[in-house]
Amino acid sequence: MSTFSAPKGTFDTLPPASAEFLAVRDTLVAPLRRAGYGYIETPTFEDTTVFARGVGESTDVVSKEMYTFTDRGGRSLTLRPELTAGLMRSFIEHRLYSGALPVKLWSVGSVFRYERPQAGRYRHFTQVDVEALGVDDPALDAELVALATQGYRDLGLTGFELLLTSLGDETCRPQYRELLVEFLAKLDLDEETRARAALNPLRVLDDKRPEVQAQLADAPLMVDHLSDSTRAHYDAVREHLTDLGVTWTEAPRLVRGLDYYTKTTFEFVHDGLGAQSAIGGGGRYDGLSAALGGPDLSGIGYAVGVDRTLLAIRAEGLDVVTSPGVQAFVVPLGAAAKSFAVRLVGQLRAAGVSADTVYGDRGLKGAMKAADRSGATHAVVVGDRDLAEGVAQLRDLRTHEQVAVPLGELFDRVRATVGA
Ligand code: HAM
Repeated sequence: MSTFSAPKGTFDTLPPASAEFLAVRDTLVAPLRRAGYGYIETPTFEDTTVFARGVGESTDVVSKEMYTFTDRGGRSLTLRPELTAGLMRSFIEHRLYSGALPVKLWSVGSVFRYERPQAGRYRHFTQVDVEALGVDDPALDAELVALATQGYRDLGLTGFELLLTSLGDETCRPQYRELLVEFLAKLDLDEETRARAALNPLRVLDDKRPEVQAQLADAPLMVDHLSDSTRAHYDAVREHLTDLGVTWTEAPRLVRGLDYYTKTTFEFVHDGLGAQSAIGGGGRYDGLSAALGGPDLSGIGYAVGVDRTLLAIRAEGLDVVTSPGVQAFVVPLGAAAKSFAVRLVGQLRAAGVSADTVYGDRGLKGAMKAADRSGATHAVVVGDRDLAEGVAQLRDLRTHEQVAVPLGELFDRVRATVGA
């Protein structure tokens, strides 16, 4: 019978590399906990309309990349291609807006996009997602950008750059859009690009083809046409960012892949990743709540791609500090020692010491190899003869020094030695 592989564009995360994945994820989350963000978990799938309306029909994400299916009850559901729309659906459904604002949330989980797989671009990947809902305050925009920056810094990353711009809002974007449409109408564009321009002209600015970019050199830019209120907002964000010690690059042509953005918009790119250089991104989305049937409340957020961040770490040759495997390893030799080992490991674990032992008949050599691989600093080596003498050997796996410890003292000695 043939065996199976993980579906195209997906991969398994296996130990020991999975420890790095967890460490990266947790490091990205730590600044959020410190800043008072609360954990939220929403379903991996939502009503298709949540994304169609939330993310926007003109985006590749919605028009080409969604995993949409009809369930047995005839409902159209979609595996989430991002977390923001689902979090907003939850915020509205549970009327979180009736409490204190902003509501600060973080989540982490699987995201699905039917993209053409390549290095750093997968069909199943993981995002750490952060949202602050219900308050339009430039200081909040700066807080989110600073939190994302902190996460990358805590991982030791240096090769990343923050691209920042303002996409305006309903006080200036419609007028700008008209200007851009007029400008694009005069260009020599193929039909597909014209169709894209009709849906969302801003997206044309993002066209990577040199012949298109050449024609766009004099395109009007949103930042030159911001209304007084959105300009003041953007200026305030930049002042706060400076106060927070965050540096950025102005990116007036930045176009995000999702349609809900207004005002502050940003992306983090890393120079070691080739084409898929974005390791995170986000922005303000003042119309999303209303678009999903909620109150007219603003929000701002970002998501970091955990998998791409891990690639960036590898590209910089950084070590991820992973929590070591177990602290103590018990090696039994003989049947009585086996029972003793099972009991001791159980007691150690119950007392908060991470511990492991060997299973199956491994022999002394195999068992010591397992002890070395376990990450433990100390092993308890105990044979039936030791037990008869009322001792066990406590071995330092780094120095190979070994002392006989009376059984009555063993538990406390192990705990004290491994620092638990
Ligand atoms: P996004 O820019 O679409 O934003 O995705 C955020 C990050 O997810 C990207 O910067 C990238 O690191 C990672 N990512 C995206 N697609 C893939 C892929 N195919 N394979 C691997 N990694 C990928 C959002 O999703 C917004 N929901 C962010 C946000 C939150 N905006 C406001 N709040």
